[in-house]
Amino acid sequence: MRDHAQMPVPRRALLASAGALLAMPALAQGGGQGAPLRIGLMLPFSGTFAALGENIAAAVELHLAERGGRMGNRTVQLIRLDDESNPANAVQNVNRLIGRDRAEALIGTVHSGVVMALVQAARERGVPLVIPNAGNAAATGELCSPTIFRSSFSNWQPAYGMGLALGKQGVKRAAWISWDYAAGNEAGSGFRDGLKAAGGEVVRELKLPFPETNFQPLLAQIPGLNVEAVGSFFAGGGAVQFVREYAAAGLKDRVPLCGSGFLTEGTLAAQGAAAEGIRTALHYGDGLDNPKNLAFRKAFKDRTTRDADVYAVQGYDAAQLLGVGLDAVRGDPTAERELVLAMRGARIDSPRGAFTLSPSHNPVQNIYLREARGGANQVIGIAAEALADPGTGCRMS
Ligand code: PHB
Repeated sequence: MRDHAQMPVPRRALLASAGALLAMPALAQGGGQGAPLRIGLMLPFSGTFAALGENIAAAVELHLAERGGRMGNRTVQLIRLDDESNPANAVQNVNRLIGRDRAEALIGTVHSGVVMALVQAARERGVPLVIPNAGNAAATGELCSPTIFRSSFSNWQPAYGMGLALGKQGVKRAAWISWDYAAGNEAGSGFRDGLKAAGGEVVRELKLPFPETNFQPLLAQIPGLNVEAVGSFFAGGGAVQFVREYAAAGLKDRVPLCGSGFLTEGTLAAQGAAAEGIRTALHYGDGLDNPKNLAFRKAFKDRTTRDADVYAVQGYDAAQLLGVGLDAVRGDPTAERELVLAMRGARIDSPRGAFTLSPSHNPVQNIYLREARGGANQVIGIAAEALADPGTGCRMS
């Protein structure tokens, strides 16, 4: 099908050649006074990350409802698009949102490869983008840009915390296992860096293509590696299966499994006893005892009947962050300078604990050490306090 996807709207170019438009209010965008503000919500609603996308979307909606459905005094219309975590369709999907659906701001997505199309759109067209999950380094590194923000993490952050905590426990030799794509590989680097900082090393990396789940050939290699622990990055449906197969292979009590906290996030009910005792590191934990978290978990549960997890938190905070920007520009997302200033200076009162943004627009945040106990990821310490991603390659300051 040929559609507007083939014809991206060169908004930034248009605005640059008509600078006066920059100062005009939202009605200049074509909607007229009172027109709803269209926010594109590009997330996976199918595939291995479907549950992640659903929780992000539900939490965006929750925050919006708490604000009476408005940002910058305009009624917000959310436009959902299922990206299936498929990088091959990503550019077309983004062009649909901006071209066909005329989205004026974007929230998305989960997968580190798919998010590249959103990053490109934000860079080329100046559309405000808040990334509510995908942790790839480039988005807040070499491809950083004023209108790109993250409410989540960089792939490096949680894995660095895990490696550091493991090294401090005295582990000298570990293996790393993950999907072979940006998220798995960048988390692997973080794990390696953290472990090395605490005197250990990663002696072997085992990988399989995303989103495959043929874990058996890799699991079979672990007993022969002579390692004291295995670090990992998997998430969603893949994480459920991996944790169960790790236990079923008889490895759980022989070589402790750990990882970026996504391994046990939103998955514990399905993983059951196989997850019990697994330690992970993440910028969130179920039992965080602060008023914002308690209120958020209750509101999310009331609305969805599901328990909140890190994905819900990141969605909620993406909406909070975008709300700060849009309020500052009275609902006119083309007022780029003012919008960016407000967002980059924001202090977000998050269920994870309040956070600010680094110069490259990535959260500076505690990475908690958690242990899966009785169906919850209990916080047992802080693996890295107020950890900032290095933002390597980003020249914004
Ligand atoms: C990613 O692709 O960046 C990604 C996906 C799922 C997660 C975390 C990171 O849970």
